[in-house]
Amino acid sequence: MLRTHTCGELMEKDIGREVELCGWVDTVRDHGGLLFIDLRDRYGKTQLVASGAGWVVGHSFKPEDYVRVKGKVQRRPKGTENPNLLTGQIEVAIEFPLLDSTTCKPLPFEVVKSRETNEDLRLKYRFLDLRNPAVQKNLFARHKAYQAIRRALDERHFIEVETPILTKSTPEGARDYLVPSRLNQGEFYALPQSPQLFKQLLMVSGFDRYFQIAKCFRDEDLRADRQPEFTQLDMEMSFITEEDVFTVVEKVLEAIFKEVLNQDLKTPFRRLSYQEAINQYGTDKPDLRFDLAVQCLNEIAADSEFKVFKDVVSKTDGAVVGICVPQGGSASRKDIDTLTDFVKNEGALGLAYFKVVNGALDSPISKFFTPNVQGRFIQKFAAADGDLILLIADELKKAIKIAGALRLYAAKRENLVDGKRFDFNWVTDFPLFQWNEEEKHWESEHHPFTSPNMEDWVKYKKTGELGKIRSSAYDLVLNGSEIGSGSIRIHRRSVQQEVFEAIGLGKEEIERRFGFLLRAFEFGAPPHGGIALGVDRLLTILLGLDSIREVIAFPKNQKAVCPMTEAPSPVAAKQLKELGIKIA
Ligand code: AMO
Ligand code: AMP
Repeated sequence: MLRTHTCGELMEKDIGREVELCGWVDTVRDHGGLLFIDLRDRYGKTQLVASGAGWVVGHSFKPEDYVRVKGKVQRRPKGTENPNLLTGQIEVAIEFPLLDSTTCKPLPFEVVKSRETNEDLRLKYRFLDLRNPAVQKNLFARHKAYQAIRRALDERHFIEVETPILTKSTPEGARDYLVPSRLNQGEFYALPQSPQLFKQLLMVSGFDRYFQIAKCFRDEDLRADRQPEFTQLDMEMSFITEEDVFTVVEKVLEAIFKEVLNQDLKTPFRRLSYQEAINQYGTDKPDLRFDLAVQCLNEIAADSEFKVFKDVVSKTDGAVVGICVPQGGSASRKDIDTLTDFVKNEGALGLAYFKVVNGALDSPISKFFTPNVQGRFIQKFAAADGDLILLIADELKKAIKIAGALRLYAAKRENLVDGKRFDFNWVTDFPLFQWNEEEKHWESEHHPFTSPNMEDWVKYKKTGELGKIRSSAYDLVLNGSEIGSGSIRIHRRSVQQEVFEAIGLGKEEIERRFGFLLRAFEFGAPPHGGIALGVDRLLTILLGLDSIREVIAFPKNQKAVCPMTEAPSPVAAKQLKELGIKIA
């Protein structure tokens, strides 16, 4: 080793020792002939002292220079100790000259302040950004999470298997990244959107319990919680029910939280059905760190004299829904305008508001509501004096969705969200299919390998109503973000064929795209199911960060570009020719 110790290691007990250290210059302080240098590596910082003529004329230190030094550990003079550092009692008096060094050019940004820099600049110099201990710590946490995952799953007899990256399209709702084949010109591999089909085939092979920390690739529009390549903790099990998946995942998460945050998670997680989530929170990924449940007030609204409400509830699909903000009644005219603008932006026609005052409703439109109706509104929300009731009248699905968005917005504004809490919940019983209004066809809500709820499937065979079939798909939601998704799978060939046909795939297309899966199902396929957790998303939330890019070593920016390598980039004409490709 080129060093005897790390920069986080030397303490009082080492005083008098001859040592050699390697690291980067963090800061330099010049006390007139006496230089103090903080030397940094991933373990910590050690103060170096350089004194004597050699140093003064012979060497200047700049932040982020790499240096290798030799010296003797000594006690810091009284009063200069740093109680915040493990190495704060000692310093190393270094010998002239340095054992080795490489210098650092003028920096594009100050390393410790890299997180305040423009993101593309950070990503262009990601190798420097990653010197920042505040950025490094996220990757250390990620590493710890991986070790906890591997231990927890190995203990439970899961086997880690790698599946191909050069493969065939695995539909997960995004566009594929394609890779042209040189040996088979005109043909393309797809990068996997997930290992879905391979993990199911591993179940057919009898592996029984599989996991993989798998890279997935999806060509979709990027957001703060999405990357074109990201990592799933992908799992699959045979001979199980949904409950078994929930239990294993809860155990793995317990292990991760213990390892990374030293926190005990409360399990089992809360469960709610898709329909409950939508009705009560207006979304399939409810943030349950606060309540503010959405209520439907159709029956009461029908008894009011307010025309907007009466008209809406007289329609088959109309509804008056809303939330009650505890102690939101102090809202000013301007606050109400802000809330109204918010819901209008979300597509609402208006926002009706009522302050609860002395057990009655105070609002510009309260004259349209008799004391009895007002009382029933208040009762419905179990509202108290000082609360604020906000209502939206519209087509039911739209109204609920807007109320759900308003719920999040109001909670943030009113500081009702406990930022320290981790609230997990399982959302179950998703619909099997959803109607794609743009393309005018039914599509799978999760993916086409998800098993229908068998009772609903039998009913569908009589009624032909695709929209009413529930599936055995479930999501794991953390603080209002979807961090995992899975299902019990179809393992009978005939059912799989029928589901493909229901989403409009023709026989030939089914054979071309999924023939290998259907064939496997003809060879004694066991019942199976599983899940994939979005590791990057999970870690982002667990570490309290705002962007998924903080937990990825070399992420892409919002345009799916890597500013450091400048990928993607044009390729040489020769390469294209070999592939038989012309750029249009
Ligand atoms: P799904 O497509 O829901 O399911 O993906 C599982 C989880 O992966 C995460 N995720 C992403 N994270 C970052 N960037 C992205 N672009 C991105 N897309 C998805 C989410 C999501 O919950 N094969 C199925 C799983 C299964 O059925 O077992 C699948 O891929 O956290
Ligand atoms: P108007 O009669 O249009 O002046 O509206 C009276 C009040 O009802 C205003 O506060 C509007 O914002 C509200 N309002 C109008 N349309 C709706 C609606 N569809 N849902 C909820 N409130 C509404």
